[in-house]
Amino acid sequence: MTPKLMTMAKMIVTVLNKDRMAVVREQDVVLFRNRVKEYATKIGMGLVNQTKLITAASELVRNMLRYANGGETLIEVVSQGRENGIRLTFTDKGPGIPNIEQAMKDGFSTGRSLGLGLPGTKRLVSEFDIKSIVGKGTTVTITKWKNG
Ligand SMILES: Nc1ncnc2c1ncn2[C@@H]1O[C@H](COP(=O)(O)OP(=O)(O)OP(=O)(O)O)[C@@H](O)[C@H]1O
Ligand SMILES: [Mg+2]
Repeated sequence: MTPKLMTMAKMIVTVLNKDRMAVVREQDVVLFRNRVKEYATKIGMGLVNQTKLITAASELVRNMLRYANGGETLIEVVSQGRENGIRLTFTDKGPGIPNIEQAMKDGFSTGRSLGLGLPGTKRLVSEFDIKSIVGKGTTVTITKWKNG
């Protein structure tokens, strides 16, 4: 491989395992958290990063339950080069977020809450992506690298 191709190959994210789970009621939150913990432990993620990942995951499932009456979660074990990680995707068919920039600001809440969920989550993980279409729903994807 040429050096350029090697650099590109290192950027490719490979999915090693996939696990889907619906979250539609409060009790599902605990099951989901436990499952995330199981996968994080399996790849050897340290406790500090595990806690960050699980805290972020909890915020996002809570948003899904609160604003969209629940949705689907996807847990993936991913690798990129020598690094392993956990990627979580939260998909709902709720009302969507009209202004993502505003929703990502500390203190913005339509639920008379602290408004720290989304911005806090972003700070806790290695990668954060949010897509939302008003009237269709919201998808949030986060990745936490084992050593990231
Ligand atoms: N899945 C979602 N569907 C629709 N709207 C959402 C969703 N997630 C977040 N929002 C909107 O984005 C705002 C900000 O979310 P964020 O989690 O940061 O704060 P919060 O849930 O209001 O408060 P906190 O999480 O601190 O209790 C919410 O108030 C809500 O308007
Ligand atoms: Mg929230």
